[in-house]
Amino acid sequence: MSDEQTRLKQQAADVAVDEVRSGMTLGLGYGSTALLFVRSLAKKVASGELKDLTCVACALAMEDEARSLGLPVSSLDQHSVMDLTVDGADEVDPALNLIKGGGGALLREKVVAQASKREIIIVDDSKLSDHLGDKWALPVEVVPFALRPVSEYVSSLGAEVKLRLVEGGDPLVTDQGNWIIDCNFGPMEDPAAVARSLEGRAGLVDHGLFLGLASEVIVAGAGGVRRISRTA
Ligand code: A5P
Repeated sequence: MSDEQTRLKQQAADVAVDEVRSGMTLGLGYGSTALLFVRSLAKKVASGELKDLTCVACALAMEDEARSLGLPVSSLDQHSVMDLTVDGADEVDPALNLIKGGGGALLREKVVAQASKREIIIVDDSKLSDHLGDKWALPVEVVPFALRPVSEYVSSLGAEVKLRLVEGGDPLVTDQGNWIIDCNFGPMEDPAAVARSLEGRAGLVDHGLFLGLASEVIVAGAGGVRRISRTA
């Protein structure tokens, strides 16, 4: 990631931090942009500008990070409704639909997004695209037992499917002990139809299409920061 991209991600993160109020229950997303948000948030907590927050993280790694920064971390068992969640995204279309899961945390991210009154997505402008799938393959979480039939099923829908591996060649293991297949559908004319075709298939745990979940997207680009709100 270039310094410029990091600077833009930080700008978007800082605008989102200004939306946080003392006493909120906050969902913490995952990824490099969400991490910048969490670090800025922790500074405001340390300075006493923000108080009495409760945080629920979308990934075990983010939970550790938040704790190490002194943020109060809780769980969905204790707090099942977030006032606000701030997360990144891999791709954002003009209707504020998203592809997420580049970091492998799509399932927890979607659970927390669905439990949130407001979901703010923070991105640099390289994440904007006319159609989901223009730039990014769709991450799909799959139970290891079902890898082959699920991969064959998703291929039969027209996607090119690759198991996500870590360095050394083993499958990436999610926080739930599952695997991720990256499914290249190309540009999606109808993401809702793609989502429907993936749902209800045994062994396919969830996919990274976040449709109608973002309340607002904060986009940082060379020309400044723009805020795009969901209208319907
Ligand atoms: C994590 O699983 C993802 O959904 C991230 O939110 C997404 O990959 C964006 O990551 P960056 O902020 O690192 O670009």
